[in-house]
Amino acid sequence: MAEANKKHAIHYHELHCPAESMAVEVHTGLSCGQKYLPPKLFYDKKGSELFDVITRLPEYYPTRTEIGLLRQHAAEMAELLGLHSVLLELGSGSSIKIRLLLEAVQPRIYVPMDISRQHLIDSSQRLARDYPWLSVHAACVDYSRSWDMPDFGPGRYNVFFPGSSIGNFEPPAALQLLRQVRQLVGCDGGLLIGVDLKKDAAILESAYNDKQGVTEKFNLNMLVHINRRLGADFDPGNFAHKAIYNANHGRIEMLLECTKDHCVHINGNAYQFKLGETIHTENSYKYSIAEFHGLSAEAGFAPVRVWTDKADLFSIHYLSAIE
Ligand SMILES: C[S@@+](CC[C@H](N)C(=O)[O-])C[C@H]1O[C@@H](n2cnc3c(N)ncnc32)[C@H](O)[C@@H]1O
Repeated sequence: MAEANKKHAIHYHELHCPAESMAVEVHTGLSCGQKYLPPKLFYDKKGSELFDVITRLPEYYPTRTEIGLLRQHAAEMAELLGLHSVLLELGSGSSIKIRLLLEAVQPRIYVPMDISRQHLIDSSQRLARDYPWLSVHAACVDYSRSWDMPDFGPGRYNVFFPGSSIGNFEPPAALQLLRQVRQLVGCDGGLLIGVDLKKDAAILESAYNDKQGVTEKFNLNMLVHINRRLGADFDPGNFAHKAIYNANHGRIEMLLECTKDHCVHINGNAYQFKLGETIHTENSYKYSIAEFHGLSAEAGFAPVRVWTDKADLFSIHYLSAIE
């Protein structure tokens, strides 16, 4: 077998809840006055692949800016993380960014954690092939709920949470997740987290409304995912992608706007849609550095270092656990 196609051994941990929870979440969201669906539903295999295409779009500044910061400051970040820790990554996706730190931090165990099961397994196997010395423990998990981690033994624990995915949580839920991370890393651990900064609305709106229409496909793929998993009959052709910056809330809102009156059936329930009505599919909160320091302090983290690019588009924080 060609080296590139060989399957490399990883440990796999199934920590994800069963499909019924998806049915409940979809029903709850579509029964609300303002219909909504949680952004984790973007991520089946196709959604993860579309997200990877988004990261390479000219308008989508977050990925290339965060990668630039990781490249530029990898040595300093590695020193703060320390050698031989258990390194957990939330929402690891294709496990691209972690590659910039692995050689320098030599983790005892690397734990990529993601909800997109097959994509997680494929990316983890590619990583294990490229870093044969690395012990990879892939964990399929929904981090929007509490979860029980397997015991990876004593030692220092660090969490890496890139991509500004913390911005997809309402601030109280973001605080809850940060508290869970704080518990996970214990008293002497740390958190390296990418956080998108507040900026001009035009830059933000262009990043989420790309000219090639990839973000539109990504947004609509959520409906295809629900059709496949729950036997629903969404016609993606009846919806249009929309992304706007809500300055009052400091967040990008992604929506699917209904283009005609119709009805969708899921699990024996009928959901009525009116022309112009929207399904709210994602928020992406943007934080100033001071705002994020305030939030993380409430969760039990002290700011140690923050790196930003020259244009102040994106930030990476290293935070250490406090008692
Ligand atoms: C915006 S992408 C970021 C991917 C990668 N970390 C990066 O920085 O490019 C979000 C990632 O988090 C995963 N994800 C989203 N919601 C999740 C959830 N509730 N639990 C676990 N993983 C989730 C997605 O599958 C996806 O890989």
